[in-house]
Amino acid sequence: MQARVDSKRFGPWALITGASSGIGREFAHQIAASKINVVLVARRQALLETLGSELSRKFGVQHRVIVSDLSKEGFVDELANATADLDIGLVISNAGSANPGRFTNKDREELGMTLRLSALAHAELALHFGRKLTKRGSGGLLFVGAMGADTGAPFMAHDGGAKAYVQSLGLALHEEFKPKGVYVTVLPPGPTATPTLAKFGFDPKTMPMKPLDAAQVASEGLRGLSTNRPIVIPGRMNRIMRALLPSSLTRSMLAKMFEKMPAISKPSPQ
Ligand SMILES: NC(=O)c1ccc[n+]([C@@H]2O[C@H](COP(=O)([O-])OP(=O)(O)OC[C@H]3O[C@@H](n4cnc5c(N)ncnc54)[C@H](OP(=O)(O)O)[C@@H]3O)[C@@H](O)[C@H]2O)c1
Repeated sequence: MQARVDSKRFGPWALITGASSGIGREFAHQIAASKINVVLVARRQALLETLGSELSRKFGVQHRVIVSDLSKEGFVDELANATADLDIGLVISNAGSANPGRFTNKDREELGMTLRLSALAHAELALHFGRKLTKRGSGGLLFVGAMGADTGAPFMAHDGGAKAYVQSLGLALHEEFKPKGVYVTVLPPGPTATPTLAKFGFDPKTMPMKPLDAAQVASEGLRGLSTNRPIVIPGRMNRIMRALLPSSLTRSMLAKMFEKMPAISKPSPQ
């Protein structure tokens, strides 16, 4: 499943964070297939270089690799310098990680890192590129959140809280940037077949509900952005569940499911 992205509105360059794997990698593919040049950002340089060469060869686009840890202070200045000469019309703020576990097992270092990567980095990208895009009067920003984060995710309490911030930020900027001609969409995926699932101890083959393909998630996000929808929950079943199940029930179901996982059932440090 592939979305076509309007290169006049969103080109000539797009920047994708977390492009080395999973959903971000799929975004890069579909954007490059739409003849938009790509800036690929993540920490694993070799994966980014290989992807960039493949996209240039396959779709005839230019690429630029930026190795950056988005949880580190000052990352946005490096990104700003490395892209100062490019006309970026599309920013996909996707990088993130999942750290399932009992809240009382977390340490303060992890709490800070998660907030910097999964909340502050989105805001810093939105500030830098939002200024440029609104001045330019066209383009788009897509924020990847997480389904259910806004209603509380047991055993993902802190990650969910950070993603709830991303959703709120994106929805607010959707309205703020609309009169400036800049489209903003939040994409909160449910379970998606990427390396993230292994961190939960899930085997996609034995899950009660089949996880979505990363390509479908990216494609639904890009289609939503193309018509400036404020939020797109990818996957029909996810949308149905979201509409029908009360959030209290979803929370207790999630708690029961996660509690059985080995990573979660270990005792808290004293
Ligand atoms: N898969 C799911 O079921 C699911 C569900 C809900 C939400 N999401 C969200 O979807 C987004 C993409 O996740 P995914 O499932 O595609 O996972 P993934 O395959 O593990 O990809 C995560 C990407 O983020 C990058 N990243 C992680 N930490 C980073 C850091 N400190 N600095 C820079 N880049 C970093 C990784 O690159 P490097 O390791 O090379 O840095 C990688 O490219 C995330 O925001 C995630 O929270 C996923």
